[in-house]
Formats: sequence, structure tokens, C-alpha cells
Amino acid sequence: MAAERGEFSSRLGFILAAAGSAVGLGNIWKFPFEVGNGGGAAFVVMYLLFCFLLCFPVMTAEIAIGRKTRRNAVGAFYSLNSPAWSFIGKLGILSGFLILSFYNVVAGWAFGYVVEMLAGNFDIGNHFGDFVADWIKVGSYGLVFMATTAYIVSHGIQKGIERAAKLLMPSLIIIMVVLLAYSLTLDGAMDGLKFYLVPDFSKINGPVVYSALGQAFFSLSLGMGALITYGSYLNRDQNIVQSAALITLMDVGIAFLAGLMLFPFVFSQGVEPTGGAGLIFVTLPGVFENLGPVVGVVVGTLFFTLLSFAALTSTVSLLEVPVAYVVDEHKVPRTRAVWLTAILIFVVGIPSLLSNGATSIFTNFMQIIGIAQEGATDHSFMTFVGWVANDTFLPLGGMLISIFAAYIWKKENLSEELAQGNENYIGSYTEKYINFAISYLAPVVLSIIFVLTVLNRFFNIQLIG
Ligand code: TRP
Repeated sequence: MAAERGEFSSRLGFILAAAGSAVGLGNIWKFPFEVGNGGGAAFVVMYLLFCFLLCFPVMTAEIAIGRKTRRNAVGAFYSLNSPAWSFIGKLGILSGFLILSFYNVVAGWAFGYVVEMLAGNFDIGNHFGDFVADWIKVGSYGLVFMATTAYIVSHGIQKGIERAAKLLMPSLIIIMVVLLAYSLTLDGAMDGLKFYLVPDFSKINGPVVYSALGQAFFSLSLGMGALITYGSYLNRDQNIVQSAALITLMDVGIAFLAGLMLFPFVFSQGVEPTGGAGLIFVTLPGVFENLGPVVGVVVGTLFFTLLSFAALTSTVSLLEVPVAYVVDEHKVPRTRAVWLTAILIFVVGIPSLLSNGATSIFTNFMQIIGIAQEGATDHSFMTFVGWVANDTFLPLGGMLISIFAAYIWKKENLSEELAQGNENYIGSYTEKYINFAISYLAPVVLSIIFVLTVLNRFFNIQLIG
């Protein structure tokens, strides 16, 4: 059975695939602009706290549930004799659908930038607005991206997901280090670093906390069963706690480096860092242009290639979640499951595709349904989907997974699974902390923030300033 489902060939393969899932647009595109909107270093501090104290323990629980049951995000709960709790997995699959539907649109932009730059369109950054509004063009790039994702997933675990991650992740890190080194030499780099690294805690308010939490979950690919699914392909000899720690470190490290690279670029141009979604697509290409035609094109193309690679290992994991479900539970052959799901998600993404200037119906979506927030400039459908899926469903999923692991499956069983491949686990401080975090910290903190987020985002009620 295990052989039929597929398995990662090695620990490195698993870690790279899971880190590949984690590292994506979330780190390189979303994290910097969330920092820009959320007041700089104060946001960074909140994000780091959430990642290490709260998300890391939840991650070990997710992977353990997957490996124990060797089943997909929904089936795993059946295997643990808790069919009623399988709604967690169903919620996860829904979140995955929603996330991939808009994620693929942005991935299509990144890929489109590579093509445009190679075709001699160096100043594409000046035409970002027209570019994203041209739905036929960006729709085609998105379609190619989704097809590439599907192609990889259709080749299964070792030959598809693992192989792609082993190739793409190291390339990404190399490109990133080169760009970082360059950015630190620019005039204005210091101002960028100051904004990024010196926290002003007066800037922390409710929305900053909600976004930081949503970002932590999103960035770690947590709370929707992606890691249950990847864990289900993990071998019993592997140390889950150590792997989860490495995945968290790599993810946080790369997000951190992305900021370190980006803010010097942004400040060297004398631009405000609050550019939102356009930060990476408008501001950065402007910087590349100033480097002159040759260097600019090389650096620009490299950067957007990096972004596309990062996105690809993430879209692969997002697609794998529903695919694993359909393959395991409904016995659909993998190839067919992959292509059908990919097409469906692409179709679900069409409103997001159109919400960036092609039509105003979707753009003003939040105003139309009456949840637009005062002072907010972005009322698009895509932002709305992000609020629902990233900021609401993922932390909710994380809370439910913690409660399930601690009280339904039971801590002892979790510990037993985490001790496989980690002899000294039982009785260690790590065990004590993980148990504390999933039994008390995560359920309490996540349920409070869940209520506050829903009130704030969807009813515009702000209980805590
Ligand atoms: N973590 C990815 C990023 O930062 C996005 C992602 C991939 C994701 N798979 C996921 C988010 C599963 C939530 C759940 O870009």
C-alpha cells in the first residue's frame, strides 16, 4: 500500500519538498509587502513569534498525523477513528482550492515577467497596471503555470515533487544570495534596513496581529492538511521534530532574506514601502532598470525566475492536497485526478484573474458586499479570498488540528509518533513544550484571534485597537 502511494526517497527529499511548499510567493512577494503595510519591524517581530512558538508545534502535529495514518488530509481522520473530525480535512481542501486559485494568478504574473523581460520588455514594471488588467495575456501565463504544476504533480512523489524541489530550491537560494549582496551596496540601503529591522511597537494593532498570524500559517503551508499529506509520504525512520524545525528555519530564513534584499532596493529608490501587491512587480523592476540595459535585464530576469521557482514548489503542494484525497478516497487514477483538479481550480481562479483591472465588478467586490474597510485602498476579490482562506481558515484549521491532536487523538499517541526516529523525544523539554503548545497555547490564542479577525475583517468591528 505504502509503495503504491509513493514515498519520499530520503529525509533531504522530504525536507526540500516541504520547505519548497513553504517557501513561495508568501515569502518573497507577500511577506515584504505585509511588512510594508504593517509598519515594518514590529510586524516582523510578531511574525517570528507566531512561527516559532505557535506554528512549529502545530507543524509537528500535522506531519505526525500524516505519517501515522499514511493517508490524505481527509482520510487521515477516518484512520484515527474520528470520521466526524474529517471536516478539518475538508475545510483544508476548500482552503487549498481558494489559495491556489489566486496564488496561481500571481505566479502567472511572475512567470509572465520572465517571458516579457527575455522578449526585450525591460520596462514591464512601468506597465504593471496594464499588464495585470490584460486578462487574456495573464490568463495565458497562468494557464501555462497551472499546467506545469499539474505536470509535476502527475509524476508522483519521487519523480515529480521531490525531483522538482531538489532542482529548484538550491537554485533559488543561490539567486537570492547574489541579489542580496548587490542590494546592500546601494545608497539608501541603511534606511531600508532600519525600517525593516528596528521595531516601533506602537505600530502593533489588531489588524497587524491578524495579518502576522495569517502570514505565519500561510508561509509555513500550515493549517490545511498540506503537511498531513506530505507527512503521509514520509518514512518511519525520520525525525519529524528535527525536520519541522529545519523547515520552519528555512522558511523564516528565506522570508527574512527576501526582506533584507528588498527594503534596501525600495529605499534606494526613495519609494514608500507601502506599495502593496505591486511592491515587487513595480518598485523592484524600476530598480533593475536603473542598473542599465544589460545588468538590469540579467538581474531582473534572475529575480523573476527565482520567484517563479519558489511559486512552483508551492503550487505543487497546494495541488497535491486535493489530488491525494481524490486518489486515496475515490480511487481515481493520479493523472486524471491531477488534470481535472487543476482545471477546476483554474476556473475558480477566474474572478481573481479578472479582479486586477480587467473588470470593476470583481475589483470593487468588498465594497459591493459591504465589507470594505475605511481607508483601505484594495477592495478586490483577490484580497477578499486572501482574508477568507489565509487569515481565517488557516488559523482555524491550525486550531482544530491542535485540539484534535491533543484531546481526540491524544498527546500520548502524538508523542509516540514523534518518538519514531527520535529516541530521546519522550520526556524531553521539546516534548513538554509541544504538548503545552498544542493543548493550551494554540487553542486559546488561535480561538481568540479567530473571533477578533472575523469581527474585524467581515463586520468591521474592532474590539482591540
Ligand atoms: N507557503 C506558500 C508560500 O509561502 C504557499 C502555500 C503552499 C501554502 N502550500 C500551502 C499555504 C498550503 C497554505 C497551505 O508561498
